[in-house]
Amino acid sequence: MKAENNCIVIFGASGDLTHRKLIPALYNLYKIGRLTENFSVLGVARSELNDETFREKMRNALIEHEKANGAMLDKFCSHLYYQAVNTSDARDYGKLVPRIDELHDKYQTCGNTLYYMSTPPSLYGVIPECLAAHGLNTEEYGWKRIIVEKPFGYDLKTAHALDIQIHRFFEEHQIYRIDHYLGKETVQNLLVLRFSNGLFEPLWNRNYIEYVEITGAESIGVEDRGGYYDGSGAMRDMFQNHLLQVLAMVAMEPPAIINANSMRDEVAKVLHCLHPLTQEDLKNNLVLAQYVKAEINGKTVAGYLQEKGVPEDSNTETYMALRCEIDNWRWAGVPFYVRTGKRLPVRVTEVVIHFKTTPHPVFSKSAPENKLIIRIQPDEGISMRFGLKKPGAGFESKEVSMDFRYADLASPSLLTAYERLLLDAMKGDATLFARTDAVHACWKFVQPILDYKAERGRVYEYEAGTWGPTEADKLIAKAGRVWRKPSGAMKKKV
Ligand code: BG6
Repeated sequence: MKAENNCIVIFGASGDLTHRKLIPALYNLYKIGRLTENFSVLGVARSELNDETFREKMRNALIEHEKANGAMLDKFCSHLYYQAVNTSDARDYGKLVPRIDELHDKYQTCGNTLYYMSTPPSLYGVIPECLAAHGLNTEEYGWKRIIVEKPFGYDLKTAHALDIQIHRFFEEHQIYRIDHYLGKETVQNLLVLRFSNGLFEPLWNRNYIEYVEITGAESIGVEDRGGYYDGSGAMRDMFQNHLLQVLAMVAMEPPAIINANSMRDEVAKVLHCLHPLTQEDLKNNLVLAQYVKAEINGKTVAGYLQEKGVPEDSNTETYMALRCEIDNWRWAGVPFYVRTGKRLPVRVTEVVIHFKTTPHPVFSKSAPENKLIIRIQPDEGISMRFGLKKPGAGFESKEVSMDFRYADLASPSLLTAYERLLLDAMKGDATLFARTDAVHACWKFVQPILDYKAERGRVYEYEAGTWGPTEADKLIAKAGRVWRKPSGAMKKKV
């Protein structure tokens, strides 16, 4: 289905996200025919650009990131416009009114407007108020939707305050809180795997599942984002949003149908069931750490404290591992081990469902564990691991696997996360956007961790290029378990 005709207004148009992700996503949607000719993009920022210079910048970005060229690139760029605005001054937003009107007239977009806040978070409360001061939020003529980038707040209190601020000018149905993990094809596939296969449904609970592992590993460091990252850390940057959303997809109850409300009701419900962590729980179930200088493949890699923009005494965690539980009938007593970190050996996001073993060992040697590995990225796929007889005498078993890889599908041209989510927002489908109650539940769960961190001393250290500190191994070893050490690619052949 195509997007509805609309004018997309991007605040923060001179920023990194706009030229690295948003414009390329819109270009690709246009290229594959998911945008009609009736759309326009109005870039807004403080920089004194004009339509021509903005087009030139975006054109260069598309050539660099998308290898775009030819008539398609020219046609797409002709839909781009720019308006310089002092985004923290309500009076200056007056300049937007005639520009947006003119674009609606020119492209017959019936007043439909999608605002995208790709700005520093300090403007997330300001922009809606300034838009409202000029009536740019009302839905009398066409719909008005506003996309909010993460982070939605800095902690429970500020997230709540931000919600109140935005809700003063936009109703919940107009607000699209983007979490790009929900736009990933394999995260959505988790829902299809779970809810369209009778095979898994009876097994997906505490009776058959021993524990669940969720890993969000990155091999890169903080690169040139040290300034931002230091105020955020792994907990706010990856865990509070992306990984808790993945956890919700794994653990939620089946919605009666897939639409924005029923789906988001279930997500919020399960997040509200996360077992609240006390300071005592955290002593035993949480590990925070920071990477230090090391040699990787013969090259010296800087430690976190040597990264640009990071204060030399920073205590920000670049790694976290947590054992948590969900207090409901389906999951009571099943541990969820979640870890994420920068400068780990490989970039991989995956969920591993560890099934219980047989009730009684029939063969002398213990059989391999049954596992379902859901690889979110890279090399997206699903792998079922189980034991079969080793050829030859006796009854020894060995682990074999049944693998599905997305790359093997006939048409692997998947939409990227931003393409999918921008398209959904333009169609008015909020299913894959975070609703206020879910965001609130995530912060409520994370707040004790933030408090705990503020109270304790230095975080642990781990060498860049390793799987984190030994304390994380000890955390999972308490139950006689070990973290899976995934490689960059899924196993190809048994
Ligand atoms: C972003 C974080 O939200 O997600 C980054 O701010 C992180 O620090 C990125 O690198 C990871 O996204 P992906 O899609 O590369 O896994």
